[in-house]
Parts: sequence; structure tokens; C-alpha cells
Amino acid sequence: MKELTVELNEKSYPITIQKGLLGDIEKHLDNKRRYFVITNKTIQSIYKDFLSRFENLVVIEDGEEYKNFSTFEYIIDKLLEAKIERSDCVIAFGGGVVGDLAGFIAASVLRGVDYIQIPTTLLSQVDSSVGGKTGFNHKMGKNLIGAFKQPKKVLIDPNTLETLDLRQLKTGMGEVLKYAFIEKTTGCREFFDFFNFLKNLRAESLSGECSTEKTDTERLYKNIKKHAEQIIYTSVSMKASVVSKDECEKGLRAILNFGHTFGHSVEKITGYKKYTHGEAVAAGMIMAFNTALARNFIDKNYYTDAIKLINDYGLISADMKNFDKDKIYEGMKSDKKVSHSKIKLVLPINPLEVQIFDDTEEPLIKASLL
Ligand code: NAD
Ligand code: GLY
Repeated sequence: MKELTVELNEKSYPITIQKGLLGDIEKHLDNKRRYFVITNKTIQSIYKDFLSRFENLVVIEDGEEYKNFSTFEYIIDKLLEAKIERSDCVIAFGGGVVGDLAGFIAASVLRGVDYIQIPTTLLSQVDSSVGGKTGFNHKMGKNLIGAFKQPKKVLIDPNTLETLDLRQLKTGMGEVLKYAFIEKTTGCREFFDFFNFLKNLRAESLSGECSTEKTDTERLYKNIKKHAEQIIYTSVSMKASVVSKDECEKGLRAILNFGHTFGHSVEKITGYKKYTHGEAVAAGMIMAFNTALARNFIDKNYYTDAIKLINDYGLISADMKNFDKDKIYEGMKSDKKVSHSKIKLVLPINPLEVQIFDDTEEPLIKASLL
């Protein structure tokens, strides 16, 4: 078991990471309290036994396309019909879609109730369940409606990764790799040397004997599940460090968007369907490294090592080389983080260190695309 705290004065909260935690959930809950669990149909069908412990369930459709106002209204209707009270607590049981929606519900119903995150995808365990960004999408763009609302606790059971398919594991690794490149800038008190950890994890997977997995990628991801507790702990330690310093993204927190300005544009111009978030972020991180190399911020050795690490985790596909440069650039200009018409890019400046820049010229950005 691993535990840490997101330090935010009176809003501080614990994160517990433990294989098998779901089987022992009562230990983490208050038996005098009423809980309203929000989940989706897919997760409900896989985790029937766990969910049968709860009397109040709200089940939504599965998919990013349901992270919208209609689903928000549907959940609110269900909670109000069940006469939710201020002293009750919402539980988000699912991936980032469920977590973001449930968090915003908790921020808004009855002007705010407590909520607990129980994330079930790798992406939500290493990223979205921590830090209090909540909300949903609008037809004008992703996550345009929402609030900062911190959970009361985050309960992570890495065993839930056993039911996740390979592509969803990979998308989580997109965010995990991000932490390897920003480690020093997060100001995290512990130093993990996460870059080398992830490099060695792959080497270890390939040297495994008598493995039943067919491909190198399958072997690698099996090893990731074996080391999930450590990977999640390291990732959320860095996230917690950044959030503690800059809860509402006035500055430092933007480093958590490393690779995302390019990545969001990739998602946008491909209709949010072709690539998962983690795949797009992986492509975005390569573009950020290309820009940093061209601007002489990093040396060739670090660049080569970093690109190899991203490629080794199997998120980049050959067709990512054919993006329309003008469309990608236009997509970047409509990013949420554009300020005074300047595109903000998080770029590596040293091994494990990044900095935020808003002065990269258009031709260089276009030349840095895959
Ligand atoms: P998701 O919530 O759509 O889950 C991915 C798929 O996995 C879904 O089909 C889901 O039903 C299924 N699933 C979930 N848990 C499972 C399990 N244990 N076994 C089998 N299937 C399971 O996607 P995601 O990648 O978890 O999250 C993406 C969302 O997170 C996006 O909406 C993104 O905007 C948001 N996000 C938020 C933050 C934040 O800080 N709040 C950060 C990153 C991403
Ligand atoms: N996922 C980016 C953030 O939480 O700030």
C-alpha cells in the first residue's frame, strides 16, 4: 500500500493506492454517511459485486460524447429525485469521463457536496482523479464548462487495470511518460528518476523469459501492471506537488500540459475519434522535443533518448506523419491556453526539466510537427 497527501491547507486530502482496495472499501468510508455512486454502463457490468454494496447508483452511458450538459442534467435529476442532502457524498467510480462529470456535479448540486474519486483507468489513476479539475464538454470545445473542486479522498485500486484493454492502458501511459520529462520542474520532494525507471522497465520486459505474451508491447504492458502501484504513486506524487503549489493554474500547473497543446490539436482535427488522448499527447511530446531541439534548448543525446522512450511505449502510429500542418497550427491557436493570441508551449530545456514559452514562431512550430 502507498499513501500520500495533496497539501492544500483546509482542502488537503489523502490518496491511497492499494491492490485489492475495492474488496475492503468499507474501511475507507463512513458507515453513517449516504453515498451516491456515479458510474457508467460498461463499468457497472464489470464491477457488479462491488457496486451491489451501494444503495444509490446513477449509471450513465459510456463515452466521451456523453460528457455533456444532457448527462449532467440527467445525473442532477436523479440525485434530486433521490433527495440528496448537503451531508451526503458523491463517489466517482470510473475513468476520467465519470470523474470529471461527477466532480462537477459535486461542485454544483445543492451548491456543493463532498465527493470521493475511485478512478478505474490508468489515465484517471495517474492524472484526472487528482487535482480537482472537473467539468464537461461543450460543442465549442473540450472541458469548456467546469470548476476546480477538490475531492475529499482518492482511492486507487490498481487491480482495476486487469479489466482494461491494451489501448486504454497505453493511453494512460501517455500521461505517465509526461511525468518522466517534467520531474525536476514539479518540485516534488522525492526524486524518482522516473525517466530511467521507465527506460529500465521496458528493458526488463524484453529480457523476461518464458513469457506467454506474443509481442514486445504485450510483454511491456504486462510488466506495467506488475509495477502499477509504483508507477501510479510516482505520477500522483508529482501531480500532487504541482497542484499544492498552483491549484488553479495561475502558472506552474501548466507544465502538466506538456505535449498537450500539440496533442489537443491532433485530437481536434481528427474529430476526437481516431486517436486516444494519450496517443495524441505522445505525438505532442515528440513535437515539443522537435521544437526544443530546433531552438537549441536541449542536446541531441537527450533528444534521442527521449524520442526513443516515447516510441518504445507503442503510442505512435505511422499515419501520424501525415498531419496537415496548417490545420494542426490552426487547432493549436484555438487551445484554451492561448493568451493574447500567443500559443503557449511547454518545452524541455534540460533532462527532466521544462519551461513555458509563448514566443515560438509559426514556421518553427509547423516544422516541428511529425
Ligand atoms: P474514459 O473515462 O472514457 O474511460 C475509457 C474507457 O475505459 C471507457 O470505455 C470506460 O468505460 C472504460 N473503463 C473504465 N474503467 C475500466 C475498467 N477498470 N475496466 C474496463 N473498462 C474500463 O477515459 P479516460 O481515459 O479514463 O479519461 C479521459 C477523460 O479524462 C477525458 O474526458 C479527459 O478530458 C479527462 N481528463 C481530465 C483530467 C483532469 O485533470 N480532470 C486530466 C486528464 C484527462
Ligand atoms: N491534467 C492537467 C491538470 O490537471 O492540470
